Amino acid sequence: MKFEDRTYIALDLGTSNILAYVSGQGIVYNEPSIIAYDNMTNNLLALGQEAYDMLGKTHENISLVVPIRDGVITDLDAARDMLKHIFEKLKMINDWKDSIILLACPSGVTELERDALKQVAYDMGGELVIVEEEVKMSAIGAGIDIELPKGNVVIDIGGGTTDIAIISANDIIISRSVKVAGNVFNEEIKKYIRSEYNVSIGERTSENVKMELGSLTKYKGERNISVYGQDIVSGLPKEVIISSEEVRNVFVNAFSRITDLLIEVMENTPPELAGDIITNGLTICGGGAMIRGIKDYFTGIFNIPCKISSNPLVGVVEGAQAFYKVINKRLMEGYYGKNGDTLRRKNNPSLT
Ligand SMILES: Nc1ncnc2c1ncn2[C@@H]1O[C@H](COP(=O)(O)OP(=O)(O)O)[C@@H](O)[C@H]1O
Ligand SMILES: [Mg+2]
Repeated sequence: MKFEDRTYIALDLGTSNILAYVSGQGIVYNEPSIIAYDNMTNNLLALGQEAYDMLGKTHENISLVVPIRDGVITDLDAARDMLKHIFEKLKMINDWKDSIILLACPSGVTELERDALKQVAYDMGGELVIVEEEVKMSAIGAGIDIELPKGNVVIDIGGGTTDIAIISANDIIISRSVKVAGNVFNEEIKKYIRSEYNVSIGERTSENVKMELGSLTKYKGERNISVYGQDIVSGLPKEVIISSEEVRNVFVNAFSRITDLLIEVMENTPPELAGDIITNGLTICGGGAMIRGIKDYFTGIFNIPCKISSNPLVGVVEGAQAFYKVINKRLMEGYYGKNGDTLRRKNNPSLT
């Protein structure tokens, strides 16, 4: 079979969202990384958005599981199960014969776990399954030509982790990860409202506050919004008015750990790449790239150019789509057979 005729499937296994791209079809799946089980029967109740909508509203017979948390797999069985169900959904709309599957994983996923996830894809009928770092795909999605021997600093602010990497010539030169990202911003907003107003708010309310007001620098149209929660003293429902400025202070505090890590990465940059970094600057991707004022915030601290990925929430699968070119080249060179990526059709390692 000709390489061009194969189905190429790329999955972004993010801690907040999972996306799937299928060649010839585009993005066919884009839902939260969560799964719901019936505790009595252990059967799957809901997947993705449907499971997310159950947050905070479940009873004791339902468990909601987020198998990839803070950039690591916390429940491998559930992760496999989730992947299997997503593949089953995808299979309904595609011909899988001889498909090439790319799994973009957070950098904290271990070799063993990667193999376990790969096995799921092989079991579902994939012909060649490849795992790549999410941050690398993000970089390509943000428009960086990672094949060039030029250093680029990429910062991917996702749900569970912020990953920072210096990438050059298809390789990750340095990478670091910190568990400060979307989920922590929500937690910090909750903590603030609790300590300042004695009100406890839910996960979806704090997500909403983050989206509505979150910023790192002053912006036009700052405002106040009402949020509803539970008074921690009386237990009764209570309204709180919160301002853009209050939320910004929460963000700026949380961001200091990200900034510290970025400084550490910059300090460890090999000198021969330092010039590239100053010229190319910083590329920001992941959902956190959409926080108001993020560009001015980083430019203010580092005094280098900053670029925001134009479509940060889909950047990983867009990058994976472009990465097909590299996979193609590598297949021609017999790279995957040689480098330990098991091919199902072992006697024909080039797959051509
Ligand atoms: N406009 C926005 N402002 C701030 N945070 C946002 C915005 N849009 C999305 N996010 C956050 O981005 C995170 C998801 O980003 P994503 O890159 O999909 O994460 P992951 O790769 O971990 O799945 C979530 O925490 C979400 O709340
Ligand atoms: Mg991501």
